[in-house]
Amino acid sequence: MTMEPNAEPNAEANAEPDVLGLLERALSASCAASLRAAVKLGLADALGDTPSTAEDLAAAVGADPDALRRLLRSLTCYEVFTEDPEGRYVHTEVSRLLRTDAADALDQLVLWMTEPWTWELWGRLDESVRSGKDVFVDLHGREFFEQVHVAWPESAAVFDRAMTQASRQSAAAVAAVLPLSGARTVADIGGGQGFLLASLLEHHPDVRGVLFDRPDVVAGADARLRDGGALAERVRLVAGDCREEIPADVDTYVFKNILGMNDEDAVVVLANLVKAAPAGAGVVIVENFVDDGPGQRFSTAMDLRMLLTVGGRKHTRDGLLGLVERAGLVVHDVTPVNSYQHMIVAATPA
Ligand SMILES: C[S@@+](CC[C@H](N)C(=O)[O-])C[C@H]1O[C@@H](n2cnc3c(N)ncnc32)[C@H](O)[C@@H]1O
Repeated sequence: MTMEPNAEPNAEANAEPDVLGLLERALSASCAASLRAAVKLGLADALGDTPSTAEDLAAAVGADPDALRRLLRSLTCYEVFTEDPEGRYVHTEVSRLLRTDAADALDQLVLWMTEPWTWELWGRLDESVRSGKDVFVDLHGREFFEQVHVAWPESAAVFDRAMTQASRQSAAAVAAVLPLSGARTVADIGGGQGFLLASLLEHHPDVRGVLFDRPDVVAGADARLRDGGALAERVRLVAGDCREEIPADVDTYVFKNILGMNDEDAVVVLANLVKAAPAGAGVVIVENFVDDGPGQRFSTAMDLRMLLTVGGRKHTRDGLLGLVERAGLVVHDVTPVNSYQHMIVAATPA
């Protein structure tokens, strides 16, 4: 018997497995760590509008030139900085967002996403997936927000600044589409330091506002909302826990990126709203959906982070609508706010 050579090689059998594709993903913590290092070193500020060498940048930020070149080389693989033909580094659209003087700076959000305590949580994701619960309380003995505020004040400060940066990114888009016609008072529940509320009040000069958040967050409210601030006379700052109470006497309530706590608590919060609010009050919920195309890598990663930290989630569109209806709200509409966020427009029962 003679063996004929195989004339048509089997493409499938010969295809090289995507080893790099897998290993790059397995090492993707290095991308997060490199971004954090860039922020901690102040690299984006050190690199001005003209190209710089790794040596010049190293001198400017006080780093080892060889190690900094290696960091820059890794970051350029993710389009954070790029290298010109002379081997000098220049900004990209992405690295410009790390400049602290940029109006749309996101440096604090990068720090918040990569705080030192986050790394231990990610290593225990399998435990959360087995149990369906957070690992945070088990690790630290306190609920997430309590631990951040009580034990990690520097992280708490990063968080507040990060939320303001996140709000700044979307505040104009939200303020432009928020249905506030006819409203006399708007409350931002879990409104952070009030950047969005301040933007809404600036947009709608006849509307009054309520900023509701945890006591330590409200204490650091946006200067425009505090005593002596340009909007202070039109604002009430209310410290509290929305799982226990929601302010009354408000025409429109805004919940932006706050219903990711566990579903039972989210329904309690919305049911508190139904109890406290006047009949027919407007309710606007702004969220990232995990089944939303363009923002899906981001929202699914945030979904897992919320599982780890608070046993919470980023919802699918139908999942969130289900909670809203379970709490007794009447849904009118769901519309996009921007390329990665949606707005559910609802009301308390008439
Ligand atoms: C992800 S941040 C969103 C902040 C802001 N709405 C935004 O979109 O930028 C969640 C906010 O909810 C607040 N928060 C969390 N749990 C809360 C609770 N039980 N009662 C009141 N505020 C709460 C946090 O302090 C934080 O400011």
